[in-house]
Amino acid sequence: MAASRGEFSSRIGFIMAAAGSAVGLGNIWGFPTQTASNGGAAFVLVYLVLAFCLAYPAFMAELLIGRYGQANAVTSLQKMSRTPFHKRFAFLVGFGGVVCAALILSFYGILAGWMISYATEPVLTLGSANSAAAWVVEQSMARNILFTALFMFLTVFVIRRGVEDGIEKWSKRLMPLLIVLLLVLIAYVFTLDGAAQGLNAYLNPDISRVLEPDLLISALGQAFFSLSLGTSVMVIYGSYISKNENLVSLGAQVTLIDVSIAFLAGLLIIPAMYVAQAQGVAIFAEDGSLISGSGLVFTVLPSLFDTMGSMGLFVAFFFFILMSVAALTSSISMLEGPVSYVVERHQIERKKATTMIGVIIFLMSLVIISNLGVMLDFVATLATEYGQPIIAMLCCVFVGWIWHRSEILKELQQGNETVEHGFFWKIWPWYTKFICPTAIAIVFIHSL
Ligand code: PHE
Repeated sequence: MAASRGEFSSRIGFIMAAAGSAVGLGNIWGFPTQTASNGGAAFVLVYLVLAFCLAYPAFMAELLIGRYGQANAVTSLQKMSRTPFHKRFAFLVGFGGVVCAALILSFYGILAGWMISYATEPVLTLGSANSAAAWVVEQSMARNILFTALFMFLTVFVIRRGVEDGIEKWSKRLMPLLIVLLLVLIAYVFTLDGAAQGLNAYLNPDISRVLEPDLLISALGQAFFSLSLGTSVMVIYGSYISKNENLVSLGAQVTLIDVSIAFLAGLLIIPAMYVAQAQGVAIFAEDGSLISGSGLVFTVLPSLFDTMGSMGLFVAFFFFILMSVAALTSSISMLEGPVSYVVERHQIERKKATTMIGVIIFLMSLVIISNLGVMLDFVATLATEYGQPIIAMLCCVFVGWIWHRSEILKELQQGNETVEHGFFWKIWPWYTKFICPTAIAIVFIHSL
């Protein structure tokens, strides 16, 4: 069965794919933005602790569900269920995750489309196509539709090819490219005036802010979004891991890569903002906070690139390509959630299912585009602030309260025979049963 439904062919294939899903706009845009608006290094510190202490255990629960079930999220959760009630609950949680992934992709595709459009601007400028260059960076319905469609097309193109030829192959190509681009851009920004001041703002924690509820909530939300939790994505990626692999260390490696890239992105963005300030660009909003959100990516940074003359065209191009690549390795995982569900539960052929779901999600994007001001925020909040935490919490409840401890151990022992005697097994089951669901619930209720 494993062969017919596809499997990652190697350990590195899985690491690149799962890290590809995790590393996205959340890391390169969301994390530095949140850091900027939550007291700099204090946020980084809290984020690191929460990522390893709460997001990693929840991430392991999702990987484990998938590897045990060897199927899409709904089927995998149902395999762990023993009563009809559990089975219905399993359906709700699994299908909820699939819907959540589709919802996220419907707005993520629009943001990613903007990244591609901003990457084409320097190319058009170099080719002296000035009015086209102005058009691609101006908000318009036509521009949004065109670039969202282009991005969705790329996502569908990869997913139609399946696990090994699509997800694994492209993640293995794109992730190294992303890391190289990130490092080159950091090295360049560090040579500019103002970078040292930015570094200082990024790395000097204001310890008094560490326990602020708002900061904790933002950091946890960011960690969950970044590890793609509560969307069925890590369950399905877990189901493509071979039974010979050590899940505990694979999960830890992916978490480490995700956190490291977020940290590196901060090393690029925050110093770049201070470089922009040294060039006379305003980086503080009227209330004295650092400009964040779309203003940062689409106003502050492009103004900085403008001050760099023709060098700025190359920097802008590489920066927005970096963003587009990060978005693509994430969006393919979002599409894989619903596609694997439809392929396995409704026996629809993969290529057909991919195109069909790609079109449906694109239509959802069109609805958002038609009323961008209201819908973008609404869908993003619904999926990431409600859907993801609730479903991630229910996955932990499933593993902690419904699945048998002996079966969990049996699954973990595959590829890791001595797991029973290690630190992970002493802490994690207890953690997943009590701490993770409680902490997620507290943060969720607080955010309401
Ligand atoms: N983790 C991705 C990012 O940081 C986003 C994502 C969310 C991917 C949910 C898949 C599922 O951008």
